[in-house]
Amino acid sequence: MRKPIIAGNWKMNNTASEGVALVNAIAPLVKDANCDVVVCVPAIDIPAVSEALKGTNIGLGAENVHFAEKGAYTGEISAAMLLEYGVQYVIIGHSERRQYFGETDETVNKRTLTALKAGLTPIVCVGESLEERETGKTEAVLEKQIKEGLAGVEDLTKVVIAYEPVWAIGTGKTATAAQANETIGFIRKTLGEMFCPGCAAATRIQYGGSMNAGNCKELMAMEEIDGGLIGGASLKANDFATIVNFDK
Ligand code: PGA
Repeated sequence: MRKPIIAGNWKMNNTASEGVALVNAIAPLVKDANCDVVVCVPAIDIPAVSEALKGTNIGLGAENVHFAEKGAYTGEISAAMLLEYGVQYVIIGHSERRQYFGETDETVNKRTLTALKAGLTPIVCVGESLEERETGKTEAVLEKQIKEGLAGVEDLTKVVIAYEPVWAIGTGKTATAAQANETIGFIRKTLGEMFCPGCAAATRIQYGGSMNAGNCKELMAMEEIDGGLIGGASLKANDFATIVNFDK
């Protein structure tokens, strides 16, 4: 049985004090959750949010991590810096980082291996663009992202995958539950070939892209979907809590 994992991705939203107010509002609403609950927050919010999350069932995630242990990488943040504040998860290879910050499958791979070595749980994002979907390239694109992004991973079950079709992110256009289920099924099959079917069956794969309080039940009811990576709807306490409590 795969335990569902619902993670908020705040992106570049919420100052530290706004973040603290948001998690203070979320915490009582999700305290009886049956799934893993995570908020992935801007790096500078981490110290304050980490403090605010003490005594709650909400895990803390970062939105990126550098692959080097330390050194001359101006502006970057290392795994050790995250760990010192109790960070447990880190989003890697989000499509916005691929699109705006030159993230490639190779750097995704380096970051993923670094995160795993440090004991962080990487949430590795994959997904096709609208053009790729419309020209029938979805499977090829995902296969490349997975094979290159996860090369050299020893224990796949320590990774969370987020399937996020780029055309569904922040657009209000969700993949249909059937579409998301089918594509995640393909991802799991690919993981099974690359690692082993048992490992793939034990690995959690989230859906992300305009998942919200209204569509979460239908998406979460699908067999292959093990959770959500939530952008916009994670910025509102009630909406995020409704998603976390999808099974109630
Ligand atoms: P969205 O973002 O929920 O606002 O579409 C999801 C994501 O980018 O992780």
